[in-house]
Amino acid sequence: MQEVLIAGIDKERLPQHIAIIMDGNGRWAQEKGQDRLYGHYHGVESVRNIVEGCAELGIHYLTLYAFSTENWDRPQQEVEGLMALLVDTIRKEVPTLNKNNIRLHVIGDMNMLPKFAQDELQEALEMTSQNTGLNLVMALSYSSRWELVNAVKNIGLDVQSGKIDPTTINHETLEKYLTTSQFPDPELMIRTSGEYRISNFLLYQLAYAELYFTNTRWPDFRKENLYEAIIDFQARERRFGKTGQQIQEETQLA
Ligand code: IPE
Ligand code: IPE
Ligand code: MG
Repeated sequence: MQEVLIAGIDKERLPQHIAIIMDGNGRWAQEKGQDRLYGHYHGVESVRNIVEGCAELGIHYLTLYAFSTENWDRPQQEVEGLMALLVDTIRKEVPTLNKNNIRLHVIGDMNMLPKFAQDELQEALEMTSQNTGLNLVMALSYSSRWELVNAVKNIGLDVQSGKIDPTTINHETLEKYLTTSQFPDPELMIRTSGEYRISNFLLYQLAYAELYFTNTRWPDFRKENLYEAIIDFQARERRFGKTGQQIQEETQLA
C-alpha cells in the first residue's frame, strides 16, 4: 500500500514546506476509554513516523503545531503531562535527529515554558544546529496573533529608534519580524481529526497554502496518510490570483 502511494508522488513537484496541525489526540484516547494524555503519548509515535517520512522524501521544512498559546488554558494535569512528554521526547530523539541530519527549530513564546523545558530545548537546538537535511520546526506555545502582535511591537520600537524608516515598510519588512523569517511559507497545510479551522496557526504564512483536512486522528496518522495528502496537493492547480489559462500557459513555457 505504502509503495503504491509513494509511486504516485511526483518527486519533482514536492512541497518544500509542509505544516501540520496535529489534532485529535484527546478524542483518540477517550474513544479507547483512556485518559487524554494516553493520546498524546501515542501522538509522539506519529511525529516520529511523519518526520521520518518527510526526511525520506526530501521535504526541506516540516512545521508541527504541538502546543498553542490557548492550550495553556487546559487543565493543569494535561499541561504538565504535555510538558513532561515534550522534554522526555526531545531528550530521547536528539540522537535520531542527528543520525538523520535533521535540524530542530522552535517557534513560539519560549518564556512561557517551564525552565526545565526551555533548557532541554535550547540544548537540542544547539546539538542539531549543524544538520543540513530536514528542518523540523516545532510550534510550541505558539499562536499567530501572539507572533503578529510581537512583530508589530518590535517594528514600532525599531521605527522609534530610527532603525527603520516607516515609509519603507512592506511585506518583506513584516516577514523579517515573524518567528518564521528563516523559513519559506508552507505550500501544504494538513489538519487531522476532522476540524476545519486554523486555530491561530501561521495565519500570515498560510495565505496561499493548500489546505488538506482528514478525519484521521493524529495518533493514527502515518506515512501513507502523508503520501495521500501530497498526492492530493499535487493534483491541485495553484493559481495565486491568476486565471487557470495563465497558469497552464506558464506551465507549458517552463
Ligand atoms: C492535539 O490533540 C494536541 C494538542 C493540542 C496538544 P488534542 O489534545 O487537541 O485532541 P482533541 O482535539 O481534544 O481530540
Ligand atoms: C490546535 O488544536 C493546536 C494544536 C494542535 C497544538 P486545538 O485542539 O487546540 O484547537 P481547537 O481548540 O480545536 O481549535
Ligand atoms: Mg484538539
